Amino acid sequence: MTTIEVNTGRRYVVEIGNGLLSQLGQRIKRILPKAQRIAVVTDTNVEKLYGGQLVHTLCGEGFSVVLFSFPAGEASKTGETYLSLLEFLADSGITRSDALVALGGGVVGDLCGFAAASYLRGVPFVQVPTTLLAAVDSSVGGKTAIDLRAGKNLAGAFYQPSLVLCDLDTFSTLPQEVFSDGCAEVIKYGMLGSQELLDRLRMGALTCDLEGIVAQCVAMKRDIVERDEFETGDRQLLNLGHTLGHAIEKCSAYTVSHGRAVAMGMMLITRSAVKMGLCPPQVLDGLSALLTQFSLPTASNESPGALLSAALGDKKREGGQITLIIPTGLGQSIRYPVAVEELPSWIEMGLFE
Ligand SMILES: NC(=O)c1ccc[n+]([C@@H]2O[C@H](COP(=O)([O-])OP(=O)(O)OC[C@H]3O[C@@H](n4cnc5c(N)ncnc54)[C@H](O)[C@@H]3O)[C@@H](O)[C@H]2O)c1
Ligand SMILES: [Zn+2]
Repeated sequence: MTTIEVNTGRRYVVEIGNGLLSQLGQRIKRILPKAQRIAVVTDTNVEKLYGGQLVHTLCGEGFSVVLFSFPAGEASKTGETYLSLLEFLADSGITRSDALVALGGGVVGDLCGFAAASYLRGVPFVQVPTTLLAAVDSSVGGKTAIDLRAGKNLAGAFYQPSLVLCDLDTFSTLPQEVFSDGCAEVIKYGMLGSQELLDRLRMGALTCDLEGIVAQCVAMKRDIVERDEFETGDRQLLNLGHTLGHAIEKCSAYTVSHGRAVAMGMMLITRSAVKMGLCPPQVLDGLSALLTQFSLPTASNESPGALLSAALGDKKREGGQITLIIPTGLGQSIRYPVAVEELPSWIEMGLFE
């Protein structure tokens, strides 16, 4: 097992390893000794696979457990699901000394995290990521959110979990496409800060050293989040591929998954950066080869106009400026503010070869 400490406003540990699900009750007792009730929040797929097991282990430690499950998928990350979760927590008598457990992928983690941040003005919560994407990215760092009709993640809070417990055994049931969505975020870490990680991925480390790769990504995210918990500077680097990625997701009415959209977003922004002379062409080739190796898309067929209007709704826009994250090498990216009027040409350059 690997343990990684995160020193943000709230300190917590991320535990990564096999067979950890059955130890969740003991861990919660240790870090939240006053908790009596636990609300497990999950989606319909994960409930079927791991819900019973988790409830059983928590009951075995003496907790009184309730479970809230919603239809799997990004389409559930809405105000409606969020409000029905809050009503459920209130009806279940969850108090401020109790805890929520987010059991699932990034959708469950984001939604449960935002409920934890706002229910009774904040109750402790534990992230139990069951997708690669949630393990390497969304379960760590405290960003929680729901989508609004106007765009992705437009309502949310920075709210750190009390513990992250990543049981790698749960990945064994992931459909191949969902696993490869996570690979897109792993590649993102390599692109923004570690050529060595990109080399290891190329050589198959995700298969032979899954724990090491997850731990490396979590440690990279930890280092960035500790420097900039509230995303006023360096944390923006983690948005590589996301401004256009979120726009692609929105344009597809969320039929394109987050990981695939981020893969396309990284390709688009890298191609534009090459054309602007900010990035050597080999970087685009290297990125494209890696994405293909992990069955991820390298092009989008959205129209420039649709992407532009979706991208303008992104929360990373600040008045007349938007900060793009631009790869400048393999394992190196920079923040690059551009005027909103320049965005159309960035999108066009990225979409067309
Ligand atoms: N908060 C953050 O910092 C952050 C970072 C990255 C992404 N995100 C968000 O994360 C979300 C994407 O997360 P995701 O890719 O995990 O999607 P997801 O939560 O929708 O999970 C993908 C699918 O896999 C299923 N699933 C989950 N675990 C499984 C398992 N162990 N076995 C079988 N099936 C399983 C789910 O039911 C779902 O159908 C997006 O909403 C994105 O915005 C947030
Ligand atoms: Zn992401």
